[in-house]
Amino acid sequence: MCGIIGYVGPRSAVQVIMDGLRRMEYRGYDSAGLAVVADGRLAGRKKAGKLTNLAAELEVDPLPGSHQGIGHTRWATHGGPTDANAHPHYSADGRVAVVHNGIIENFTALRHRLEADGVVFQSQTDSEAVAHLLSQGLATGLDLLTALRQVCLQLDGAFTLVALDAQAPDRIVAARRNSPLVVGVGQGENFLASDVASFIEHTRDAIELGQDQVVEITPDSVKVVTFAGQVAPTRPYRIDWDLSAAEKGGYDWFMRKEIYEQPRAVADTLLGRIDADGRLCLDEMRIDRAKLRSVDKIIIVACGTAYHAGLIAKYAIEHWTRIPCEVEIASEFRYRDPIVNASTLVVTISQSGETADTLMAIRHAREQHAPVVAICNTNGATIPRESDAVIYTHAGPEIGVASTKGFTTQIVACYLLGLYLAQERGIKFGDEVAALVRRLAALPDQMQQVLDGLDQVAELARRQIEARSVLFIGRHVGYPVALEGALKLKEISYLHAEGFAAGELKHGPIALIEPGLPIFVVVPPQGRDSLHDKVISNLQEVRARGAWTIVLAERGDQEASRWADCLIELPIVPTLFQPLVAIVPLQFFACELATLKGYDVDQPRNLAKSVTVE
Ligand code: F6R
Repeated sequence: MCGIIGYVGPRSAVQVIMDGLRRMEYRGYDSAGLAVVADGRLAGRKKAGKLTNLAAELEVDPLPGSHQGIGHTRWATHGGPTDANAHPHYSADGRVAVVHNGIIENFTALRHRLEADGVVFQSQTDSEAVAHLLSQGLATGLDLLTALRQVCLQLDGAFTLVALDAQAPDRIVAARRNSPLVVGVGQGENFLASDVASFIEHTRDAIELGQDQVVEITPDSVKVVTFAGQVAPTRPYRIDWDLSAAEKGGYDWFMRKEIYEQPRAVADTLLGRIDADGRLCLDEMRIDRAKLRSVDKIIIVACGTAYHAGLIAKYAIEHWTRIPCEVEIASEFRYRDPIVNASTLVVTISQSGETADTLMAIRHAREQHAPVVAICNTNGATIPRESDAVIYTHAGPEIGVASTKGFTTQIVACYLLGLYLAQERGIKFGDEVAALVRRLAALPDQMQQVLDGLDQVAELARRQIEARSVLFIGRHVGYPVALEGALKLKEISYLHAEGFAAGELKHGPIALIEPGLPIFVVVPPQGRDSLHDKVISNLQEVRARGAWTIVLAERGDQEASRWADCLIELPIVPTLFQPLVAIVPLQFFACELATLKGYDVDQPRNLAKSVTVE
């Protein structure tokens, strides 16, 4: 949610910032701007709309050459997406420029105080207050770092701030609370950013900033102190992916590329999890065995697509561990006084590791002494750092706003956790766990088979281009797949789409069916239980009412094919693993339909990738 960047070094600051913003545009794209210091003065440009608008502005009206600057790409919170509300924001005396990610909750009080001092605001944003406060501090003779620290002590809420002082050559300062910030450490140059993708082409050495810390960078130094002014220890790390992973690699959209990367991402997430004795080992599980054995309830907390992964995981975790498992939307969790204690294992799922709702849920759980395991794709992000243990999904950077490989790898990581718990609590024998992990390891090939047959889904999208509404139904793990299929379609195709539990249909939603309405039906594998037959009955019910059925069923399922207007065959996998193959055509359908409709698949309207506000 908002991408911010700062640079000091020998390169052209404008070039570094614009390239960096391009790679962070997924974080927010309703306006963008940058400011540099040249000849002891600030110069800046900002523009509503996508980054291309700012780039066009710079063509017509270039900025002076500079080696010190800051930039921002915005997802609006306070104030609409206008030129005036775009960042950077400047102090009234023109000395300070600030970019901000987050929400300053006591902004109204600060604004009133500043206005009483005679400050005239140029925007409706909460962020502008910081620029004025900072310049007031500098006017009293404070240095830039101290002035920023003192401003931070006056702020409530979530913020990453990066600031530039026209009178402080070769340095930039930044601060973070509840919002991401990393330092990119180069040779004779340094970077500050919300996401390492923005500077990965220049350096893979990074420092993660801790909570309530302020940093000052010059071309040759990085100094980190707490808001209180104490020197803070830094945590350097090496980024384990490179520029090519953050580029589209010949695909039209990041989302499409990421759909096709799923076999690799799932394989990487499974890599190295079985030790020489055939035992499942999760290196990052830092919760001791006694504690894991005493767990009597699991609560999975997540948002959006990650929540759907949690809904799927519940079936497997309860089945394998026999521990009751609840799944809850993070934004609802802590406001309902949940029953959580030291024997509740809280599992959070987050691709970005920065989602504010999920982070607040973790803090609440830890206050109740519950151990927290994070399932996360972003090394060193706030959520894993604030958890007791973490299982990383090794999906590589996910840039498309609609999550795809994030989702499938989250399911796999949850399954590993479930099997690990079953192993550590002695509910499953080692060979049973190893057999299930082997079956999981077969999934990348089976996902690839689905990817190889997607021409049919492209044709389906062409056929459904005029659809006004699409329904998705499924049972058991097929139900969250239906929810996720509908979410993908809503968020990038802007189409009315709903997912239902197939058995629930007759309790109301079946009234929506009218002749020709497309319904995706996720049919479970033909197993020993009656699950399959129940969905076939639901399939017949909707078809009898005129629905146009798109049936996802395992290869050779004659019964399912009888009731299909369009049949999408899936590889034969166990029921619990079916979501990993069934979701792929649904992701692709949404991507294809949005492309045909001419929408921006990677940057759908109103959304942002990393939701760092509650
Ligand atoms: C939908 C989507 C969102 C995210 C949700 C949680 O495609 O991407 O629903 O899943 O915002 O994000 P993370 O996983 O980063 O916590």
